[in-house]
Amino acid sequence: MLARMADSRASKPLSLVFDDEAATARFGAKLAAVLRPGDVVALSGGLGSGKTALARAVVRTFQPDEEVPSPTFTLVQTYAAPRFQIWHVDLYRLNAAREVQELGLDEAIDEGGVLLIEWPERAGAWLPGDRLDIALSIGAGASVRRAEITAYGNWVPRLDALR
Ligand SMILES: Nc1ncnc2c1ncn2[C@@H]1O[C@H](COP(=O)(O)OP(=O)(O)OP(=O)(O)O)[C@@H](O)[C@H]1O
Ligand SMILES: [Mg+2]
Repeated sequence: MLARMADSRASKPLSLVFDDEAATARFGAKLAAVLRPGDVVALSGGLGSGKTALARAVVRTFQPDEEVPSPTFTLVQTYAAPRFQIWHVDLYRLNAAREVQELGLDEAIDEGGVLLIEWPERAGAWLPGDRLDIALSIGAGASVRRAEITAYGNWVPRLDALR
């Protein structure tokens, strides 16, 4: 088990609007540029809010030809990036928060993997204190998505790079 220091440092939320999927993808590339080994990005928001679309954009920054399917049924899909492995995780079908242990996410962080986690609320108290929270929602217009972004712990100094 990873030792998780309770780190209550939180940024003020950053609100962004993505007018279309291309804008979401551009943000994904920006996010990819600041990722470091061991990072955790929590992608919350309702069905179709764009969590997978955003994760796909991050992965494609490193692997442009990857399909990046939703990990709804596999729960985890991994991808190779030059400095880390990306773990694209979807906890929607998780039955209990303790099942998160069985997915090997602690080991993934310890080994320097980067975790992009959809439905992070399913992980309950497991979520680490060093974390970027991106809460997506559907905006005014079918292709508009809003993002409320909050940085915790070691993400706080990196939030400005996402503006
Ligand atoms: N600006 C946008 N950003 C992202 N996706 C968009 C945008 N505009 C439209 N879309 C569409 O919204 C849908 C987002 O689906 P996606 O699978 O990414 O959602 P999700 O949040 O992962 O849902 P789920 O909870 O089912 O996993 C896609 O069909 C995508 O084409
Ligand atoms: Mg999804």
